[in-house]
Amino acid sequence: MFIIKKLTNVNLIGVFMTTLLLSSLYTSITHAKDKFDEYGDMLENDMINPFEGDPDAIAVGYERFNQRCSYCHGMRGIGAKGPPLTRGYYKVSGGTNMNLYSTIAAGLTINGKPTQMGAFGATISDEDIWKIIAYMRQEYKDRKAAGSEFKYGVYP
Ligand code: HEC
Repeated sequence: MFIIKKLTNVNLIGVFMTTLLLSSLYTSITHAKDKFDEYGDMLENDMINPFEGDPDAIAVGYERFNQRCSYCHGMRGIGAKGPPLTRGYYKVSGGTNMNLYSTIAAGLTINGKPTQMGAFGATISDEDIWKIIAYMRQEYKDRKAAGSEFKYGVYP
């Protein structure tokens, strides 16, 4: 009798612990979902773009993009010899504000080797980099709203 009682107690504790473990696992999984966008980029603690959605800033960003980026990344960022920048995801750099800002300011290296994507931090102001990013985001949003978004373009 004593042994059975003891066993039941142990089982109860086991069941309780398992429930606790499963429920905390469940909350951490469902909670984690909120911190990633649809492409799996982490959004938590991302830098804030002060010009996101600001029409005047986006107009300036569009101008700067045409001056400095489109000859490699295509008109409206559809891709050329560089990958598309307005399809909503960024295969190499990642798509958080932090990823995009540092890629544009410091350039892109892959395995320690510089790519054709150079650093623009010395020739484009901090504000204008953010305006370019705001433009790229808006371009994708507009394209998506118009149903003309593309996944690959000339680049995989
Ligand atoms: C001289 C050509 C050239 C210019 C000018 C240039 N880029 Fe790039 N960029 C590239 C190339 C090439 C890559 C791809 C590098 C690789 O993966 O090897 C790239 C990659 C990128 C990426 C990462 C894309 C991804 O899918 O991960 C971003 C973001 C980017 N460029 C932004 C810009 C912006 C913004 C400008 C204008 C300020 C700019 N680039 C100007 C050639 C250029």
